[in-house]
Amino acid sequence: MSEKIRWGILSTGHISGKFADALRILPEAEISAVASRNLETARKFAEKHGIRKAYGSYSALADDPEVDVVYIGTPHSFHLENSVMCMRGGKSVLCEKALTINAREAEEMIRVAKEENVFLMEAMITRHVPLIKKIQNWIKSKKIGEVRMVKASRCARSEFEPFQRHLNPELGGGSLLDVGVYVISFASMIFEKNPESVFGFGHIGEFGSDEQGAALLKYDKGEIADLSFALRTNAVNEAYILGTDGYIKIDEVFAVPEKATLVINNKEVEIIEEPIIEGGLVYEAREVMRCMKEGLKESPYMPLEESLQIMRIMDKIRAPWELTYSNDTNLHLHN
Ligand SMILES: NC(=O)c1ccc[n+]([C@@H]2O[C@H](COP(=O)([O-])OP(=O)(O)OC[C@H]3O[C@@H](n4cnc5c(N)ncnc54)[C@H](OP(=O)(O)O)[C@@H]3O)[C@@H](O)[C@H]2O)c1
Repeated sequence: MSEKIRWGILSTGHISGKFADALRILPEAEISAVASRNLETARKFAEKHGIRKAYGSYSALADDPEVDVVYIGTPHSFHLENSVMCMRGGKSVLCEKALTINAREAEEMIRVAKEENVFLMEAMITRHVPLIKKIQNWIKSKKIGEVRMVKASRCARSEFEPFQRHLNPELGGGSLLDVGVYVISFASMIFEKNPESVFGFGHIGEFGSDEQGAALLKYDKGEIADLSFALRTNAVNEAYILGTDGYIKIDEVFAVPEKATLVINNKEVEIIEEPIIEGGLVYEAREVMRCMKEGLKESPYMPLEESLQIMRIMDKIRAPWELTYSNDTNLHLHN
């Protein structure tokens, strides 16, 4: 591996542009190439972000020997196919959330990573934000006693067109995979275990995907996560960690947090604030490069087994909704 980590960016959509901006400020990173389904689109992206090579197919990027790691920024339904192709080409992969469409796909992606002996991580931004480490220290030092509940909401009101990925079931759209993954992953990070029981409601809207949903997760010692997620509902994006002695409030947008308050006996006893750099994407990019330099094949902050468990939880939540994505065909959801 060269001194700098050489990145490839697979796809030229919204988040790929933001990720390219984030990489530009990291001295240990170099963007070697970008790939789009269309060469002209790739060229425009390359010009805008100062990238040397532009490819008109994803496979050309997977075959490029001058790329160490590929960032996958495609819609959810392509994550498995795109990631596997890059890993088969010997590349490490940072794949956008949700890792896949369902747990069976996640199992397959992880299996290939192990077979090819390459690094793989789900790009769950929250895990790497500095403020989260401070919140975890509050929890570890028992500032709020025993953690009993988590309440988190990730909602937005947006207008969408059927061809866009957000609400298109053919592209793995819908609130559960797009934003529900943040609240489920958050609960998993705080409780550090899998729930015993999972239950969720979802509303399937006019585009045939879930516009909003709510889930309750119950853990072995009676801990509960109370979670909501939506793409067409104007609501808060806060999280609370509730303990026997107090609680922690994480302000909007909790998934990329900049402010948290420690409340004991209804009194605010401490506030921590830390501004986010480049939308927070720099932190996960840094973590990928740290792991790769240290020869790790996964990150301790977003382990593959946990990403898989999160996909299993999402399968269980939507099992009663009669919501299937095109890739679900011939796959049995975990009930
Ligand atoms: N971490 C975060 O904060 C964050 C924020 C937003 C989204 N995301 C995640 O990032 C991923 C992409 O989201 P996005 O909002 O960037 O999506 P987007 O703007 O729609 O971009 C997706 C890109 O995927 C490629 N693509 C390949 N096949 C496609 C198809 N059949 N239809 C549409 N696009 C196709 C296209 O690139 P080419 O035309 O170049 O091939 C397209 O520009 C999702 O997994 C999403 O959950 C993460």
